[in-house]
Amino acid sequence: GASARVSISPFKENSTVIVAHRGASGYAPENTLDSYRIGVRMQADYIEIDLRLTKDGELIAMHDETVDRTTNGTGLIKNMTLTEIKALDAGSWFNDKNQAYGSEEYVNEKVPTLKEIFETFGKDTRYLLETKAPEDYPGLEEKMLKLVEDFGLTRHIAVQSISKESLKKIRKRNKDVPLFQLFWYKNPASISSARLREISGYANGIGANFLRIDESYVRKVKNAGLLLYPYTVNYPLNMEMALRWGVDGVHTDYPDRLMKMIPEG
Ligand code: G3P
Ligand code: CA
Repeated sequence: GASARVSISPFKENSTVIVAHRGASGYAPENTLDSYRIGVRMQADYIEIDLRLTKDGELIAMHDETVDRTTNGTGLIKNMTLTEIKALDAGSWFNDKNQAYGSEEYVNEKVPTLKEIFETFGKDTRYLLETKAPEDYPGLEEKMLKLVEDFGLTRHIAVQSISKESLKKIRKRNKDVPLFQLFWYKNPASISSARLREISGYANGIGANFLRIDESYVRKVKNAGLLLYPYTVNYPLNMEMALRWGVDGVHTDYPDRLMKMIPEG
């Protein structure tokens, strides 16, 4: 727990924030209602959702820019209508790849829209929304915030992006939503004080790939008054290390593994 923690809702918070990465995506096909449902059941603080826009401007949950890996179809999301995407099977690939947790229930699972996700879970969870490649999807931020407001979920979301322009756009429209600047480090992570100061001007925290960070990076980010949520930490030994370093939250495909390690919120 850090002094910089943002308290964003009456929702019970774990002492280290658990983010169910693409839902509990170790147990069910990522970014589907099933993976989110398991994440909520495991009492993750957030379910993480990758957002993109279809050709007809609908917000959907999908990580990649094409449907190829996580459905039985092919093609770019931005060239497909929601109807075309809804015709795809977004679950069977998981069964083919993941014998341990595969299930008949996942066969012909559909790609969810953000609206369907909000309708399903409402205020039972919080949502860490990621704007993916926002330069490819004009209007994504506005549509996302509009939907969040329509559902009265402003205090139930946080937003993350690799794009600082996207985060700044959101900050301009809404001062309350916690924002996270994402980094993906190819080499051992380092960050300058100037960059940390800049980020403090438009965001509340940082998300960075766990395997490239170390304790001194964690300290530096925290000393700058920013939250740090490393991703994606799936092995218990790595979870223990992240907790020892004092990170504020952890993205994981296996929220139950992390839950076992942290004291009651
Ligand atoms: O949660 C951080 C993480 O989602 C960023 O990486 O590729 O899984 O979207 P990615
Ligand atoms: Ca993501």
